[in-house]
Amino acid sequence: MSKYFTIVKDNAKSIRAKSQPVMNITQKEIDLVNSMKDYLVASQDEEIRERYHLREGVGLAAPQIGKNIRALVVYYEAPLEDGTTKVVDHRLINPKIISESVKEAYLRAGEGCLSVDAEHQGYVYRKYKIMIKAFDVKEKKETTISASGYEAIVLQHEMDHLDGILFYDHIDKKNPFIEKPDAIKL
Ligand code: NI
Repeated sequence: MSKYFTIVKDNAKSIRAKSQPVMNITQKEIDLVNSMKDYLVASQDEEIRERYHLREGVGLAAPQIGKNIRALVVYYEAPLEDGTTKVVDHRLINPKIISESVKEAYLRAGEGCLSVDAEHQGYVYRKYKIMIKAFDVKEKKETTISASGYEAIVLQHEMDHLDGILFYDHIDKKNPFIEKPDAIKL
């Protein structure tokens, strides 16, 4: 099924390349970013995932589908305390971090990536809170996004892809589970 992209893996040179900003955002880029979001939605459906041998993902960056342009999507449903869910849906072109907290956060389970099949255990420390400026594909205009916690971690993971950086680059080689006492464990 052509709709489901072939994901570029971490043995490909292009996954390590620095992606280029989109100088002129056209319908072509907008359609591409929307289809990346559709891919994530599909990957979160167990039946589709099994039928098409997909891995479940919450974020995807354009270089992962073979386009070295600065575009990314983040999509997942987060359960809220009252039993409802919140949909986190970012579809961004030319994202830039404009501010970040000193405070750091990390996932106790570590991070994963659709481009990385091997297991890389260890903590990835990121900023707890960030502010991003980007072209928002949903609203078709420049926007500013504030994110914290898990949402901020996923956004930073995807931003890294645009500079050819993978999550395991951040893991301390000598002590992968080093605990930073001031960081928030999620
Ligand atoms: Ni990734």
